[in-house]
Parts: sequence; C-alpha cells; structure tokens
Amino acid sequence: MNMHKYEKLWLWAGSATLLFFLIVIGVSAFYMGNKPPSCAVTLDPENVREHQMFKEPGLTEIGDNEYQLTIVSSAFDYDVGTDDKVVQIPEGATVHISSTTTDVIHGFEIAGTNVNMMVEPGYISTLTNTFKHPGKYTLVCNEYCGIGHHLMSATIEVVEQ
Ligand code: CUA
Repeated sequence: MNMHKYEKLWLWAGSATLLFFLIVIGVSAFYMGNKPPSCAVTLDPENVREHQMFKEPGLTEIGDNEYQLTIVSSAFDYDVGTDDKVVQIPEGATVHISSTTTDVIHGFEIAGTNVNMMVEPGYISTLTNTFKHPGKYTLVCNEYCGIGHHLMSATIEVVEQ
C-alpha cells in the first residue's frame, strides 16, 4: 500500500501520543496509587444527619491501623467531628473516607495527597487512602459553592506513632 509520507508521519505521531498517555495513566494508577472516587451509594439529601453513617461524623478505628473517616460537607464547613476542625490520623493508617453534602456540590481535596473527590447531594463519595507521611494536610473545597467557598477547610494531621 502506498502511503503519503505525511500520512505516515501523523500515524506515528498519533500512535506515539496514545502510547504516551497510556503510560501516564499506568504510572498514575499503579505506581502513584491514584484511584477514581466512588459515588455509587445514595442517600436522602434532605436527611443526611439521620443517615446511620453521618449521625456522628469523625474518625473511627475499624481494624489494625485501619479507620473510617466520615465527614459531612455543607456550605461552608466540613464537620469532621471535632471542635477545632483537626483530624489526627496515625502515620501509615489506611483510611476509608466517606462524605456527602447537605446542600450544594462541594469539592473535597486533601492537598498533597491523592484524595480529591466531588461531593454531590444525594450521593456518598468514598475513597481509600493510606497516609504514609507525617504532617499537616489541608482539606479544601475546590468547587465554587458560594460566598464562603474560600473559608471551607479543615486539617488532617498525620502523626508519627
Ligand atoms: Cu464548598 Cu466551595
């Protein structure tokens, strides 16, 4: 088959780009541990606080250095179960994070980690993360949600044990 040299060139360029992005996805998923968050579970957005999971938000130990962290997001606050908005997590702990919103869509990003979700009314967003490095991490809202959007934050403190 006779192919024009530009056609050949673009075929190579297209294939190389495809391969490059597949490698990027592979490295991100298998080496850096990025996973898409899940939001397959629904709840009544009008009665979030009555849902068994969100009655008492906060950190609960469920296994050997394994925790469930439940957070209620709302304009313009993250209810993490503590008065000072700080959650202390032991270094190396695997944490199953669940959150939902009582009003509008909010972002849910723990800066400096792989945790980055969107919380939507009527859905429970979940993501599992292992906090390997001690330090203070800020939980921020990265979806514009109203006048107090920039005030919406909490602190995750990974403490050495
Ligand atoms: Cu909540 Cu922006």
